[in-house]
Parts: sequence; structure tokens; C-alpha cells
Amino acid sequence: MSDALLDRIAAANDLQELDSVRVALLGKSGEITAKLKSLGSMEPETRASEAPKIHALREQVTAAIGDRKAALEAADLERKLATEKIDLSLPAPESVSGTVHPVSQVMDELAEIFADLGFSVAEGPEIETQWYNFTALNMPENHPARAMQDTFYLEPRTPDEEPYVLRTHTSPVQIRAGKDRGAPTYLIAPGRVYRSDSDATHTPMFHQVEGFVIDKGITLGHLKWTLETFLKAFFERDDVVLRMRPSYFPFTEPSAEVDVGWSMEKGRRVVGGQEGWMEVLGSGMVHPRVIANCGLDPDEWQGFAFGCGIDRLAMLKYGMDDLRAFFDGDIRWLKHYGFGALDVPTLSGGVSA
Ligand code: DAH
Repeated sequence: MSDALLDRIAAANDLQELDSVRVALLGKSGEITAKLKSLGSMEPETRASEAPKIHALREQVTAAIGDRKAALEAADLERKLATEKIDLSLPAPESVSGTVHPVSQVMDELAEIFADLGFSVAEGPEIETQWYNFTALNMPENHPARAMQDTFYLEPRTPDEEPYVLRTHTSPVQIRAGKDRGAPTYLIAPGRVYRSDSDATHTPMFHQVEGFVIDKGITLGHLKWTLETFLKAFFERDDVVLRMRPSYFPFTEPSAEVDVGWSMEKGRRVVGGQEGWMEVLGSGMVHPRVIANCGLDPDEWQGFAFGCGIDRLAMLKYGMDDLRAFFDGDIRWLKHYGFGALDVPTLSGGVSA
């Protein structure tokens, strides 16, 4: 192939110029196309010697253009990679930014409030063994308390496998964290829990936060003070009043259900004051068997525990009335009730500010 042709291809500096060269050589009225056309009017002997040369030339030119195209495309990509950067730390513009779901917001608020009291955050699996979900929490097989919760059982994988369950509460984290961390322990465990139940105030998946403390000399007084401090900080009011009612949970002894006082403000029931009571959580002193199942000596260690619905806390604080909307994924609901992604809850700023 002539150097002149090669030079023309090499001189194309971008894809558009290269395409013009291609058209000028191989297009309908291109130079090489014209050579091919001229074959028809040649003497047979001349054609026999010229045809292979012209076809070879066309192939060489096609290949050279292909190579040049690949080189220009690679250079183009390099240039784009070098110049087109995005800074992921920049705030997203309002039009494309999502919001923090109220459940995540409340979990962040809880972590902030309890971190200030010296608690750390623990997690456990949502697919749980029956031992952790029930037995270790002082609910042996056939214990009537197992029927208190509508449990989802997983299909066993082998005939003799004991079915796993979707954890029905965050309480199994007491045992897991107790075994892992030993004592003293101060933790909260927020997370998803599952029960076969569905109406305006129940969804098959919802969220709880577990509180769990093991130390020496722990009393009901510590429990009450902690809950009062937590609820006042969470609802951001000093007039939050607690009432503890005797109750029963297999994993605590004694057990108490905790109500908070509410009052009417602008036609809405809000936490604070004492016009009426509503239940917000279950609690109690950790049962000695639970302490033993954490691998600790119940004669040496005592503790308190509580369990609280996070979705319900969110509804009470932020005024939603249908729990199902939490999980519909409706963008309008999320825009209305969601929180700015950069507004991290802090005690100094007011946890929901
Ligand atoms: N696990 C209980 C439930 O889901 C809630 C609960 C009650 C947790 C008392 C506790 C507790 O830690 O002490 O209904």
C-alpha cells in the first residue's frame, strides 16, 4: 500500500476526520471503489493481474482504518477518564437526593442517645435458631410463651434439622452479645424482626430495639432511670412521665410493661403530660437463667433489659398513623416524612434537628 494512503489515514485526528477519509477511499464514489469499478472495463489479462492488487489494497486500507479507529477510540476514553471526574463527597442536588427513612433516623437517634449513656450497638442475625430465639431466653419447647408470638418457621433442609426461625424479637441478641462480650455489658440492639401479623398497626416485618445491661448491683432503679432518661431525650421533652406495670416475660423476673403519659396538642395525641397512658415497651430484670445462658454466674451478675418497637416510636414522635405506609416505598411519603441525608442526629443539636 502506498505511504501516501497510510499517511492520510494516520493524519485523521478524530473519528469524524477518519470517517471522511474512509468515505473518500471506500465510499460509493471513493478512490478505491473507483479502482474496483475500473476492473470491469479492463482487458481480461490486465484484469487478472490488477484485480488481486486492488482487492488487497482495499483490504489493507480497511484494516488500517480499523486500527486507526481503535486507537482514536482508546485515546478518547483515556481523555474522558482523565477529565470526567465525579466527587462523591459533594452534596447531591435537591432534585436527585433521597431521604433518610424515619426508621433509620430513629435508629440513629437511639444510637446517639444511648452512646451518651455508655451503651454500644450490637447486632444479631435475622435468621435465628430456636435456641437463641426461644430456649436460651427461658422459653423451653412446649413453653406456652412460644405461642405468644406468631413465628415464621423456615423449611428444614434435612429431615432432622431443627427449623430455623425469622427472629420474632431482638431479644436473642442478649444471649449472643452476652456470650461474646461477657460482663459488664451495656448495649442496645436495633434491627428487623418478623411475625405473621398484618393490619394498620402490625406488619410482618417491623423493627425493635433491645436494651441489655449486665453489671454488678444492678437494680430496677437503674432500669427506670435509664428508660426515663432515654424517653425524655428521644421525645425531646422534660414532661415525659413513666408508669411501670407488673407484667410477664419469660426472660425477665420481675417484668414490667412501661407506659408513657400523653396529652392532646392541636387535636393530636402527643407524648408528654399525663392526660392518659400508652404502652411503649416491655422490660424487666434479666432472668438468672438468661444470665447463665450468656455464660455468666447469676449470683455474681445482675442486669436489666427492655424491648421497644422502633416503628411505633417513630409514629409517636413524627405523627404517622398507618404503619403499613412505612414499607410501601411511596416516594411522596418518603419525601414528606424522610430526613435530610446530611442531618446527623446529635444530642447537642437536639436528636431530631
Ligand atoms: N422481646 C419482647 C417482645 O418482643 C420485648 C421485651 C420485653 C424485651 C421485655 C425485653 C424485655 O428485653 O425485658 O415482645
